Amino acid sequence: MRATVTAHRDYTVAEIDPRLYGSFVEHLGRAVYTGIYEPDHPTADADGFRQDVIDLVKEIDVPITRYPGGNFVSAYNWEDGIGPKEDRPVRLDLAWHTSESNEVGIHEFADWAEKAGTEMMLAVNLGSRGLDEARNFLEYVNHPGGSYWSDLRKANGRDAPWDVKLWCLGNEMDGPWQIGQKTAAEYGRIAFETAKAMRASDKSIELVVCGSSSPKMATYPEWEATVLDYTYDAVDYVSLHMYFDDHDANPQSFLGKSVLLDDYIDTIAAVIKQTKTKKRSSHDVYISFDEWNVWYHSAEQDKAILQGNEGWPFAPPLLEDTYDFADVLQVGSIINSFIRRADVVKIGCLAQLVNVIAPIMTVKGGPAWRQTIFYPYLYGSQYGRGTSLDIRIDSPTFDTDFAKGIKYLDASAVAADDGALTFFFVNRNLSEPIELDVALGGFDQSKIIMDKVIEGFDLKAVNGPDGEPVAPTDGKNATVTNGRLSATLPPASYRMIRIG
Ligand code: AHR
Repeated sequence: MRATVTAHRDYTVAEIDPRLYGSFVEHLGRAVYTGIYEPDHPTADADGFRQDVIDLVKEIDVPITRYPGGNFVSAYNWEDGIGPKEDRPVRLDLAWHTSESNEVGIHEFADWAEKAGTEMMLAVNLGSRGLDEARNFLEYVNHPGGSYWSDLRKANGRDAPWDVKLWCLGNEMDGPWQIGQKTAAEYGRIAFETAKAMRASDKSIELVVCGSSSPKMATYPEWEATVLDYTYDAVDYVSLHMYFDDHDANPQSFLGKSVLLDDYIDTIAAVIKQTKTKKRSSHDVYISFDEWNVWYHSAEQDKAILQGNEGWPFAPPLLEDTYDFADVLQVGSIINSFIRRADVVKIGCLAQLVNVIAPIMTVKGGPAWRQTIFYPYLYGSQYGRGTSLDIRIDSPTFDTDFAKGIKYLDASAVAADDGALTFFFVNRNLSEPIELDVALGGFDQSKIIMDKVIEGFDLKAVNGPDGEPVAPTDGKNATVTNGRLSATLPPASYRMIRIG
């Protein structure tokens, strides 16, 4: 089948915020303990952090990492994680039915983030706690000194403030599973007052208010309309979350699901606009898509722990999805959706980074390895920075029970500051190649500088600690001539082509 893309240098969407390629480390399962932190591991540094994991995080170049949760944050006392480790209390983590040793807290995570070259994005607990805890945590983290909490930070060994810019006002407060769930009006009031207090303490911060935890929530999108009505001028981002699954074992339909993401973004962009107009505001609010991924492979194996049948284990394996080749295509399409809406989606966090629904996995005492989805995330982060182009895609389509006319060809394009033009393609046709023709209006790039393709695997093919077969190879037969890029995209394939 044939498909065309039209790109023109004058038709742009927006400058891409590099934080679009962020991630997330929650106190959940083995994300922290035996994930980023394992003092007995052969590669552990003096602070107990696994160097093999840091190396993989650096390979991706993760600009920002959200911490400490997730559902975990909604019953978390951040003070449990400061001071001498031997004095820190063991607490029950009500979100994941596990025990939390508090061996890692804000000091340790900040040290890790610095080593991994990633900025911190912190969340405050608006579930079991509220405004007072939030302002104290902010003072501890960002105030230079001369106050109770900032001086305590100094006494605990960190002189300079961490100066964290991005703060989440709770997590998924619309969810019945959340400790301290609230109605939109209850949350809107608390979020507004907390935002006011936090800004009174530090004017330089950016604040993220909770939107919906999924477009399937009965309260979506009224939730966003109500919450933004309370908070619009006090916040900078509304947070969205979305996870994808193939519970129906219908891969064609699974690969079409990114159109639901497009619809989700369009809808909340409209709610933001409507609220801005209603408030006669000159302030802009954007989307922080701070949890997204495929999540379903581990559902069965997690049941026993989550239902409490295993007691309260410390750092058990949880949400350890092993990703397959189909997930490469899905993650590639999700990133394409974000790039195409870089005008409104400024922050993205792949949930999560290590062991928990993650591109990076570890064996306790053993190796760290790359999941299949490592690669589309890596390529997005490394080469998807610059200006998003407003491309036109013409492609044959397919229908599913949730949408009609889904294009087999999914694509996005980024013009980088160094003059390179990068295209990300996903051929969602499982049996036929796509003969691709890209019209390059106003561009003078004339040669392929990089061509990476992930193709030819069984949709269920996976990587593991003993081997990483699902990996990119060099693409072949792409050409640029007379302002046209041509290539054949194999059936079920992910491809990144850079021209310069
Ligand atoms: O990322 C896993 C969980 O998914 C997070 O803790 C929560 O916010 C969401 O429901």
